[in-house]
Amino acid sequence: MDRIRIRGGNRLNGEIHISGAKNAALPLMIASLLTDDTLTLRNVPRLADVTLLMRILGNHGVDISVDGKRAGTNGIQGDTMHLTARTIVDTTAPYEMVSRMRASFWVLGPLLARCGEARVSLPGGCAIGTRPVDMHIQALQALGAEVEIDKGYIVAKAKKGLKGDRITFEKVSVGATHAALMSAVLAHGETVIENAAREPEIGDVADCLIKMGALIEGLGTSTLRVQGRDRLHGATHEVLPDRIETGTYAMAVAMAGGDVHLLGARADLVGNVINVMEQAGVSMSPTNQGLRVSRNGAGLKPVSVTTEPYPGFPTDLQAQFMALMTRAEGTATITETIFENRFMHVQELARLGADIRLRGDSAEVHGVTRLRGAEVMATDLRASVSLVIAGLVAEGDTMVHRVYHLDRGFERLEKKLGACGAEIERLAS
Ligand code: EPZ
Repeated sequence: MDRIRIRGGNRLNGEIHISGAKNAALPLMIASLLTDDTLTLRNVPRLADVTLLMRILGNHGVDISVDGKRAGTNGIQGDTMHLTARTIVDTTAPYEMVSRMRASFWVLGPLLARCGEARVSLPGGCAIGTRPVDMHIQALQALGAEVEIDKGYIVAKAKKGLKGDRITFEKVSVGATHAALMSAVLAHGETVIENAAREPEIGDVADCLIKMGALIEGLGTSTLRVQGRDRLHGATHEVLPDRIETGTYAMAVAMAGGDVHLLGARADLVGNVINVMEQAGVSMSPTNQGLRVSRNGAGLKPVSVTTEPYPGFPTDLQAQFMALMTRAEGTATITETIFENRFMHVQELARLGADIRLRGDSAEVHGVTRLRGAEVMATDLRASVSLVIAGLVAEGDTMVHRVYHLDRGFERLEKKLGACGAEIERLAS
C-alpha cells in the first residue's frame, strides 16, 4: 500500500486548481440511470471513488466513456464523462460493491423510478458511524414503493410506477434528499420534500436534473417541489467545484503559512468556513479566478466550531480544522453533531504531539507550540488529510499510511501541495 511522506516546515506559495466536487460527481453519475439518452459530465474529478462507481454503473448496463475513450480499469484519466444507460440490464447492486462505497447505495431510487424494481445491498456501518438508511426507505415508501429487507438487501418495488406525495424528513440527510429527488422526478404527479438538505451538491444535481427535463422548484431552500415527468432526456453539465477540497487547502495554507490562490474555488460555497478562518487570523479573499488564502507571521487564534448541515460548518472539514487548531494560541472546542464516531483522527494527531481531550461529542484542542513527525494512519479520507495538514508543520518526517483513503477524495494531493513548496512525496509499496 502506498504511503505519503511529508517533511514539515515549508511555507506554501503559488496556485492550486480546485477539482470538481466528489460529492456532486457521484450522484450526478447515478442520475444517468434516469434516462436512456447520454448524460455528459464535465469537470469530473479523477478519484478512486469515481472509478469504483463507473464499475458499479457498468454492472447495471451504463455505457461510460471518459474523454472519448471507453472506461478502462486503470482509473479515470480525463475529466469529461459520457454516460448512457440505454438499457438497464441488472437492477441489483451487490454487497461486494455497495460495501466498498456507501454512495453506491444511492442507485436504489433511480433504479426503482426507472425500472419499477431494485435490489440493493444495505451498506452497513463505516468508520465514521452507524449511518442508517431508514430515511431513504421512508422516502421511497412515501412515493408508494413496497420495500422489504431480504438477506441484507433492500428490495423495493413499484410495478405501476412511483406516485408523488409529501416527504417530511425528521432530520437533514444529504443522501436521503438525493434519493427523494431522483425518485420524484420520474413519479406521477407532485412531490414535496420537506426538511431537504441544502448542501450545494444537492443544488448541483437538481440543476442537472432540470437540464434533463425535470421540473423542480425551491432550489437552495429546505422545501423542494417536484413535478414528475414520464421521461428525462440527455444533458451536459459541469460539476461544481469541491468546497471540501477548497476548505482543506485553505487550512493547509493556514497551517503552513504562505499565500496560495485556489483557482476555480467559489467563495459562495464556503461562507461559513471563510468566517471561521478569518476569526482564526487567516485571510481568505475572493478573486476573479477563485479564492486567495494567506497567513503571514501572526499566530493562529483558537476558534470553537460545531458541525452542522449546510450552510453550517461542514463535518467533512472537522478533522482538517482540528489539525489546524492543534497549533492555535489557546484552546478551541470542536463539536461533531452529524456523525457519532468521527474523531478517529484524534489519536493519530496525538502521535504527532497534539493535546486533544475528548468529551462526548466534543474535542477540546489545546494548542501546542510544536508538532513532531511520526508514522500515522487514519480510517477515512478527511481524517487522513488532517494528518497531512499536521505533517506540514511537524518537525521531521511524517509518514501517512493507508493512502488509498486520500485517493478516494483528493485528486493528486501530493502534486498540488508539492507545486506550492511542500516537501511531500508518495512512496509506492
Ligand atoms: C453525505 O453522506 C456525504 N457523502 C458525506 O461525505 C458527508 O459527510 C455527509 O453527507 C454529511 O454532510 C456524499 O455526499 C457521497 P447524511 P450521507 O445522510 O448522505 C443520519 C466525505 O467525507 N441518517 O447527510 O451518507 C446519518 O447517520 C463524506 O466525503 C439517518 O439517521 O450523510 C448522519 O448522522 C463522508 N438515516 C446524518 O443523518 C438515514 O436514512 C447525516 O447523514 C440517513 C442518514
